[in-house]
Amino acid sequence: MKRLLVLVACAGLLFVMGRAKTGKAAVTVIASPRSDAFAPPRIEPVLERACHNCHSDRTDWPWYSHIPPVSLMIRRDVARGRSKLDFSQWGDGSGRPTRNEVQEICDAVSDGSMPPKGYRMMHREATLSSGEIELLCRWDNFARAQPPLSQEK
Ligand code: HEC
Repeated sequence: MKRLLVLVACAGLLFVMGRAKTGKAAVTVIASPRSDAFAPPRIEPVLERACHNCHSDRTDWPWYSHIPPVSLMIRRDVARGRSKLDFSQWGDGSGRPTRNEVQEICDAVSDGSMPPKGYRMMHREATLSSGEIELLCRWDNFARAQPPLSQEK
């Protein structure tokens, strides 16, 4: 009986992984090399590496994101993350973040609440160095100095 269960579980896992692979290929096609041009060249890769999975419409779903109940938790996180802040639709659609958004980003990475701890455990690459945190906060200064940014929200 036990053996059968293990077999079924393995088959299930293989099936899911197979599907995840095709799913990923499809995503790659959709995610054309569109870059969020608003961000200065040094900031863009940091956001891309550490935040885009939850704050843009270019989520790269890992294989385990297709297996319940993990899938439900991840989907909920991404939905909540996007609803708070979506890099694909900055601010009011101007393609640039509002000052508030830039300030919030600085706050969130400075106090360590973003990227979320659980996510950093699964995605080592999402850990920000202190230099990168400083960079994101200096972007704030840079953005403030810019003439008409989209209005505050
Ligand atoms: C695992 C998904 C995930 C990743 C990765 C992630 N976030 Fe978030 N983010 C969320 C969720 C979920 C919320 C909503 C939090 C809430 O409602 O309490 C959020 C909220 C925010 C907010 C709104 C302010 C707040 O604290 O509620 C900001 C700003 C933010 N994230 C910035 C970032 C930045 C910058 C990065 C990358 C350095 C990042 N996030 C990475 C999921 C994520």
